[in-house]
Amino acid sequence: MKIVTSVKELEACVERERLNKKVIGLVPTMGALHAGHASLVERCTQENDITIVSVFVNPTQFNDKNDLKNYPRTLDADCALLEQLGVDYVFAPSVKEVYPEPDTRVFSYPPIDTVMEGERRPGHFNGVCQIVSKLFYMTKPDTAYFGEKDFQQVAVIRAMVKDLGLPIKLVPCPIVREESGLAMSSRNTLLTVEEKQIALNISRCLFESVDFAKAHSVLDTRNKVVEELNAISGLDVEYFHIVNGITLQEVSSWDEADEIVGCITVFCGVRPVRLIDNIRYK
Ligand code: PAF
Repeated sequence: MKIVTSVKELEACVERERLNKKVIGLVPTMGALHAGHASLVERCTQENDITIVSVFVNPTQFNDKNDLKNYPRTLDADCALLEQLGVDYVFAPSVKEVYPEPDTRVFSYPPIDTVMEGERRPGHFNGVCQIVSKLFYMTKPDTAYFGEKDFQQVAVIRAMVKDLGLPIKLVPCPIVREESGLAMSSRNTLLTVEEKQIALNISRCLFESVDFAKAHSVLDTRNKVVEELNAISGLDVEYFHIVNGITLQEVSSWDEADEIVGCITVFCGVRPVRLIDNIRYK
């Protein structure tokens, strides 16, 4: 496994692999890798000749300086895991290397990027598009792998790939959960043992809501989840939207769309840690 820190070197490696007709897969990450990332990497190594994993905490997608400062950084452990998983290249650049000058490009895909995370984290998806498009240009992958935990992110990147006309196949991969049901997230490392216990109520409530939804309206299902979670000390629901899985607009009845997904963000604990999760109703 080669660890590459410069864009020039990365591009030279990619060029070489392309000349050798290798099929390239990319897994973009911000590091602090867990089993969720490992599942993306495993899929990537199975489906491609060459796997590139980027490890880069992208400042332009953080709208909160503290969140950026506190984001876990564990490059040595990440590289050890990636080596075990049979990765070919780790791209771990500095901020200066990726952004020698400020990125002034603006990406806008309403209404997909204006609801939920887009509404609460102004500029977040613009930053995600800035870094993901750069990574796509640098690595020229045939396929790129993203976790469905960030359901809205996948939809925004899909819109960006279409907009830019990039010949890249996107593969959304299912959420990986801890045994307790808690969705795997790099942010889980910021939770205390007690907070982790409290946080598992998020997935429990979401799972239970699938059965509840069979006999209740969208509004009642939404309210039940929000009320139940807010009643638990240490949890504070920021939003729970039950949306059309394609347009990400809220639905008011179960037959309004072919794909319906509940997307939730909850503040957990004293710090607090902002956790996201989602559940598919159909
Ligand atoms: O999902 C993430 O970890 C990040 O948003 C991504 C896609 C690596 C871009 O920085």
